[in-house]
Amino acid sequence: ASSLDVDISKVPLGSEIRVLIGGKPFFLRHRTPAEIAEAEAVNVENLRDPETDDERLRPMQDGKLNRAMLITSGACTHLGCVPVGPAQGNTGEYGGWYCPCHGSEYDTSGRIRKGPAPKNLPIPNYVYVSDTVVNIS
Ligand code: FES
Repeated sequence: ASSLDVDISKVPLGSEIRVLIGGKPFFLRHRTPAEIAEAEAVNVENLRDPETDDERLRPMQDGKLNRAMLITSGACTHLGCVPVGPAQGNTGEYGGWYCPCHGSEYDTSGRIRKGPAPKNLPIPNYVYVSDTVVNIS
């Protein structure tokens, strides 16, 4: 299986970088405090695929969560298109990502909020190698 070390210190605040691993797209999103607050304020019980924002983050080496850095799969859970996001100037109705194929809308935690996609953007396997480098596999 392939894996990739990514320097997250290079991800612009309020935007994201995209990487391909084994041909599959992943998003690394540097969330603003407002985007984090929005993700945390959602009533999880009302979600199609209920997950808290914390459940979608992985701990750093010191055991703490880096809430500014959200790492997700970049494949829409409907039919696999790659949603657009802040780097394309369109974060959709819920501030996260918008899938132009059939209109799925994801929030700032990558959770599905509207449209045909059944599940949240999956969280890949990743570990913090240091405070600024993650290894995604
Ligand atoms: Fe994204 Fe259909 S593939 S909405």
